[in-house]
Amino acid sequence: MALRTIMTQEQPTLHKAARPVTNFDQRLHDLLDDMAETLADANGAGLAAPQVGILRRIFLIDVDDRGLIEFINPEILETSGEQDGVEGCLSLPGQWGMVKRPNHVKIRAQDRDGAWFELEGDELAARCILHEYDHLEGHLYSEKVYKWLSEEEVSAMFEAAEEAEEAE
Ligand code: NI
Repeated sequence: MALRTIMTQEQPTLHKAARPVTNFDQRLHDLLDDMAETLADANGAGLAAPQVGILRRIFLIDVDDRGLIEFINPEILETSGEQDGVEGCLSLPGQWGMVKRPNHVKIRAQDRDGAWFELEGDELAARCILHEYDHLEGHLYSEKVYKWLSEEEVSAMFEAAEEAEEAE
């Protein structure tokens, strides 16, 4: 396994639609392993292949107790509800903004061996899946931000969330 370089927003790969994966081979598995290592190293919630310079329809998320999940050739089947919250991206380091997204998503994708599965996600998982899916279409969350936040505002929000969690 090896760390891959995370592209920042000036890179053209982040603004192009990614192509489907057709070979479920060792090369794909190596890429997925490298992406997992890169995501963990960056302490991120999700990572899409275009962010490491690979224009293929692949992303990973690691947001809840389900652990790391790999999505290959994903299709959004349905979305519902609405959530409003802070979002960031490993390709836009140090930036945070408010984005409205559906609160629920149902998605279909292939695993690393090509088997199809369906998965549902709410709240943070839904936000993360939709954010990563946008990367495969060449879109960044910054296009959807309605209010940018300062670092102080973001720290205050995270601290408030942690306190609320501890109080539960
Ligand atoms: Ni991102």
